[in-house]
Amino acid sequence: MGTEENISSFYNNENVIEISHLKKSFDTNLVLKDISMTVKKGENVVVLGKSGIGKSVLIKCIVRLIQPDEGSIKVFGEEVTTMKPNELNELRTKIGFIFQGNALYDSMTVRENLEFPLRRNKVIKDPKLIDELIHEALENVGLLDTMDKMPAELSGGMKKRIGLARTLILRPEIILYDEPTTGLDPLTSREISNLIVEIQTKYKASSIVITHDLNCAKITSNRMLILQDGVFIAKGTFNELKNSENDWVKSYFKIE
Ligand SMILES: Nc1ncnc2c1ncn2[C@@H]1O[C@H](COP(=O)(O)OP(=O)(O)OP(=O)(O)O)[C@@H](O)[C@H]1O
Ligand SMILES: [Mg+2]
Repeated sequence: MGTEENISSFYNNENVIEISHLKKSFDTNLVLKDISMTVKKGENVVVLGKSGIGKSVLIKCIVRLIQPDEGSIKVFGEEVTTMKPNELNELRTKIGFIFQGNALYDSMTVRENLEFPLRRNKVIKDPKLIDELIHEALENVGLLDTMDKMPAELSGGMKKRIGLARTLILRPEIILYDEPTTGLDPLTSREISNLIVEIQTKYKASSIVITHDLNCAKITSNRMLILQDGVFIAKGTFNELKNSENDWVKSYFKIE
């Protein structure tokens, strides 16, 4: 399909992400067997699944940090699996990736951490505008007073927030959250989950939220998918899945 056809089909269905029959193995380890899913514009889709099941592999395939074996991944209507390096770089400026763990640079202050994506992408050079963006990003996550602190001086929850602020500074249209609440106490987890919803509303961002935290799933999801043995075994809203009669699905909700 040509680019124009891609763009027109994208605007017709408004799927910002469209994955079909994705497969990925590592040697004999079949991680993703047959994955199909969509994310519509402005939607938060939660992928729930046990540890080691392939959740991180799935979202890494979307930005080609991992090369899939088979299948199609379209983002804004463009095929990602065959993108050239320059197209991929362009795409990655539109996708924010919140890594599992916070991945802040320990030797940089909070301000320098936030400046980093702006410098790397050379999108904004005006120092005054950079200051404004850093200010706004920190205000969004309620941590304006940490601007000159080092990551080592922050709590786990604060680091997660700064990680979010750093991703938001480039105003990504898509955000991929990998376990945004892991390792946090229930109250802080709830705050981060609420923040994810605020970001969705304020920036009209579309997101995939990877989690095994049911409360986070409940707060952030418009739709949910459960990953098990390389395929999605269930799809639906949080309440639909919570009331499911399927034993596998039930087992996810028992741990609440
Ligand atoms: N780069 C890689 N090379 C080889 N195997 C990998 C690689 N990345 C992931 N795997 C394997 O793929 C499987 C799924 O890993 P993945 O990190 O996606 O799990 P996960 O669902 O994100 O788990 P968790 O909830 O613990 O983060 C695991 O068996 C893992 O060992
Ligand atoms: Mg993971």
